[in-house]
Amino acid sequence: MVPLFCVILGLVGAQNFTQKVFYYNQTIDHFHIPVQEAGVFSQRYYVIDDYWNVASGPIFLYLCGESECKGVTSTTKSLFPLQVAKENAARYISLEHRYYGVSIPINNTGLFQQIFQYHDVDQALADIAQFIRYMNFQMQEIRKTTIPPKWVVIGGSYAGALSAWFRTRYPNLATAAWASSAVVRPILDFSDFDKQVYISTAKSGQNCVDSIKSVNNLIQSQYIAGNMTVITDLFNATSVFSNDPDQITVLWYIADTMAEMVQYGKRVELCQALNSASSPWDKLKQVSIVGNTYGLANPNAYAVSALKNLNIAQNVMDRQWWWQQCQQFGWLQTPSEYQMRPSYLNMTFWNWYCQQIYSYPGGITLPNTNITAAGLSYKANNIVYTNGSEDPWQWASNNAVSTEARPILKIECDFCGHCIDFKTPNSTDPASLTRARTYIKAYIAQWLRS
Ligand SMILES: *[C@@H]1O[C@H](CO)[C@@H](O)[C@H](O)[C@H]1NC(C)=O
Ligand SMILES: *[C@@H]1O[C@H](CO)[C@@H](O)[C@H](O)[C@H]1NC(C)=O
Ligand SMILES: *[C@@H]1O[C@H](CO)[C@@H](O)[C@H](O)[C@H]1NC(C)=O
Ligand SMILES: *[C@@H]1O[C@H](CO)[C@@H](O)[C@H](O)[C@H]1NC(C)=O
Ligand SMILES: *[C@@H]1O[C@H](CO)[C@@H](O)[C@H](O)[C@H]1NC(C)=O
Ligand SMILES: *[C@@H]1O[C@H](CO)[C@@H](O)[C@H](O)[C@H]1NC(C)=O
Ligand SMILES: *[C@@H]1O[C@H](CO)[C@@H](O)[C@H](O)[C@H]1NC(C)=O
Ligand SMILES: *[C@@H]1O[C@H](CO)[C@@H](O)[C@H](O)[C@H]1NC(C)=O
Repeated sequence: MVPLFCVILGLVGAQNFTQKVFYYNQTIDHFHIPVQEAGVFSQRYYVIDDYWNVASGPIFLYLCGESECKGVTSTTKSLFPLQVAKENAARYISLEHRYYGVSIPINNTGLFQQIFQYHDVDQALADIAQFIRYMNFQMQEIRKTTIPPKWVVIGGSYAGALSAWFRTRYPNLATAAWASSAVVRPILDFSDFDKQVYISTAKSGQNCVDSIKSVNNLIQSQYIAGNMTVITDLFNATSVFSNDPDQITVLWYIADTMAEMVQYGKRVELCQALNSASSPWDKLKQVSIVGNTYGLANPNAYAVSALKNLNIAQNVMDRQWWWQQCQQFGWLQTPSEYQMRPSYLNMTFWNWYCQQIYSYPGGITLPNTNITAAGLSYKANNIVYTNGSEDPWQWASNNAVSTEARPILKIECDFCGHCIDFKTPNSTDPASLTRARTYIKAYIAQWLRS
């Protein structure tokens, strides 16, 4: 899984606002005693003030999750949060997450696990808290009051979970949260993901399900036969995977390319492509074509040899993100009873995969995600949750009963994947999506008033 982030596939027109970039001296270790001696790193953030009513407007804090944060750009296809900010006369801030982009606490690549010593969710949540306190102080002068403004924290996917965890842990710092496709429940063995790939693709008919199985059977049999070069050649990925200790990583790469099509609302396109071919080899070729078309088949995000690279570039997130999964959250995608991926991608594989990526002396141990989950409550009020009906990640989201204080909006449509509600609204949107957006706006406005 590559990226859990809410992907941007496409373009929108030019936007009429000014965005400025700043850097905050963030504390490296919030739990160091005394904290004054903990050291700082530069945490990047972006500010749009064009819509802000300085005296009375709230602050919308968009949390960039596990990837480089670029703020709102001309290629941002998910402008709905900014539109809601505008309607509420809000200041709009995007905050980069520690260990991604340029907001890197420690750069010394020679220190093995010490590199990621401060890379955990408690530190990330404390970053947000300290940042809000700092901004509140900084705004006193221009707002001509010491009473802080109201903050709405917003995020999608992992960042959606952060927004819900944050509102719950620091209720005095944020008035509300908007948690889109929020993976609030850490789960080690996440076979429900695979189950949803089945549920979603079955909407296109049993043919699609059977096609996916035939591709999986083909690649697993070729793996057993030691015949993987033919397959990696098809994906132009032979040079990347040739350095891997075991070509089993190619099974993960191809299975996830299909799953990501579903995750990002392209299930119909995936099924059409698969069904247009008859032999398993031709169906596999179709996977390489659609993966390429939608930019979802980057071998560097899967190959162990690439994930082991300690020289993390600004635009690369995979090594850092796997650390969070291998050490805190799990969400390791195993085959369900519906077998939407090769049977070899079981927990034995995942344990091996995490060990390979972080080949530290003594090895690493997969997390007890029950303990992670126990430390991360998401049950505060004033949080609006959303789910896309096709999105496999929905099985890690809030599975409680929807209430007025903590509404859960399930958005049903053929292309309703991960973080669908964030997309820029347009005239062809299905009624379910428009209705969900109306509710989101109403809830946020109501919580800001109260
Ligand atoms: C961050 O710290 C550096 C070094 O102490 C200082 O020069 C800079 O002004 C600080 N930046 C902010 C935004 O406070
Ligand atoms: C680490 O490197 C990044 C990118 O070059 C830089 O922005 C950041 O300030 C560095 N962090 C530290 C703690 O030196
Ligand atoms: C290896 O792949 C080639 C190319 O598709 C195929 O013709 C051959 O049968 C495969 N070998 C085995 C042992 O499956
Ligand atoms: C692989 O590379 C060839 C030649 O550069 C190109 O025509 C083809 O579209 C590429 N296929 C994929 C799946 O990237
Ligand atoms: C995973 O699959 C491999 C290959 O079939 C098998 O050897 C291993 O025992 C399986 N592990 C688990 C936990 O089922
Ligand atoms: C975590 O909790 C689940 C459900 O209660 C349980 O089945 C599982 O054994 C627990 N895992 C660990 C490692 O304690
Ligand atoms: C998301 O979907 C799952 C599975 O259908 C459901 O259990 C959960 O309640 C939903 N959560 C949200 C936030 O909509
Ligand atoms: C409208 O939005 C949907 C969902 O984001 C997108 O798939 C579709 O291409 C958009 N249509 C137009 C005409 O922009």
